[in-house]
Amino acid sequence: VKAKVALTVNGQRRELEVDTRTTLLDALRENLRLTGTKKGCDQGQCGACTAIVDGRRINSCLTLAVMHDGAQVTTIEGLGTPDKLHPMQAAFVKHDGYQCGYCTPGQICSAVSVLDEIRKGLPSHVTDDLTRAPQLTEEEIRERMSGNICRCGAYSNIVDAIVEVAG
Ligand code: FES
Repeated sequence: VKAKVALTVNGQRRELEVDTRTTLLDALRENLRLTGTKKGCDQGQCGACTAIVDGRRINSCLTLAVMHDGAQVTTIEGLGTPDKLHPMQAAFVKHDGYQCGYCTPGQICSAVSVLDEIRKGLPSHVTDDLTRAPQLTEEEIRERMSGNICRCGAYSNIVDAIVEVAG
């Protein structure tokens, strides 16, 4: 079954017709040709597919495109350009926050969202204690980034980059 979906992706309105079983990840990569968002596991385990939807990061492989009709979507292509990097992208470059780079778009989308979540006082997805006030600490950043796997093991450089942007 096909369905029409309208998304605002990186500030541009896009209308597409997708099979109702199409994930948001596949809609981004295959229908819209935005291949910055990566497919690692396709099962919600690795975070490579992280995109920002209506202000919150999600694993785009775990959700259907038709569930997001009318949504605002930001992918790595919308955060910065080669000439004008987002501060998080610049910090990843400065701190070598990658090796192979495959997980990097998801890491950066997550990192931008993590700082936003902490600043807004939003609870962590991965802590059981929802009453604890979020803190801009390295420990909290590490916990909130724990859904983004880096097989090269660049974690300490990734955290250094995020801590720098956190100020
Ligand atoms: Fe979505 Fe791995 S590809 S979490």
